[in-house]
Amino acid sequence: MTTYAITGSSGYIGTRVCRHLLDSEPDCRIVGIDVRPTGSVALEAFVARNGLDGSVHAYYGVDQQDVARLGEIVAAEFGDAPLDLVVDDASHLLEPSRATFDRLFPCLRPGGVYVIEDWPMHQLKQADRSLTMLVFETALACAEVPHVVAGVTVHRGYAIVTRGDAPLDPSTFRLASLLGERAQTLVTPRTEPPRVMPAPAPSPSTGSAPRWHPVAPRERPAVGAARFLI
Ligand SMILES: C[S@@+](CC[C@H](N)C(=O)[O-])C[C@H]1O[C@@H](n2cnc3c(N)ncnc32)[C@H](O)[C@@H]1O
Repeated sequence: MTTYAITGSSGYIGTRVCRHLLDSEPDCRIVGIDVRPTGSVALEAFVARNGLDGSVHAYYGVDQQDVARLGEIVAAEFGDAPLDLVVDDASHLLEPSRATFDRLFPCLRPGGVYVIEDWPMHQLKQADRSLTMLVFETALACAEVPHVVAGVTVHRGYAIVTRGDAPLDPSTFRLASLLGERAQTLVTPRTEPPRVMPAPAPSPSTGSAPRWHPVAPRERPAVGAARFLI
């Protein structure tokens, strides 16, 4: 049986994801959690109309950072069976998403995938240490501990993190703690303000301007005859 867990699953998109997963894997088991107290009419109607009470279970009033509750739900729904896919489309906030990642990533089978939806949250003005950081950390972990994070594929609006084959304990796993000292410095907030270059011109093929603003390289003082750009 193929097993899926989805956080932030209450609405229209959750319904479409369920439909897609069930179309490709009719025997699958899908479990959703959402902090909303009640489910959306769309998802409830979809489950009822298609007689899916046995394959789609939604839990409401569950905060994604309530890792004890996540553990109970996973144990009740899947027992010891590893998960094939986790999709996090919930708060998009760094710490709650990190808590969910640390609790559920170890529950994946080796080769199973964890999708982080809407990761470029740094583009929002109000974002502080944004979800973007979690994707950076998975990329660094892929280089440092590939038996834990076997691969990361980054797309414009989502990232796919593939689990390696290391045995991982969900009660103690902390992705950030696996990063070495030099990697840690890359994901530690800088004290100086970033220098931002003007955005590039719109692409001639799509006509749309990229939404990112590259940070200008910082020039280091001359060392002997050489100069370094980082
Ligand atoms: C971006 S929407 C995702 C839409 C969803 N995939 C769907 O089915 O339409 C975010 C969802 O995450 C839920 N959410 C927000 N913060 C959450 C949290 N801390 N824990 C669990 N769910 C949360 C919201 O209630 C909302 O349903």
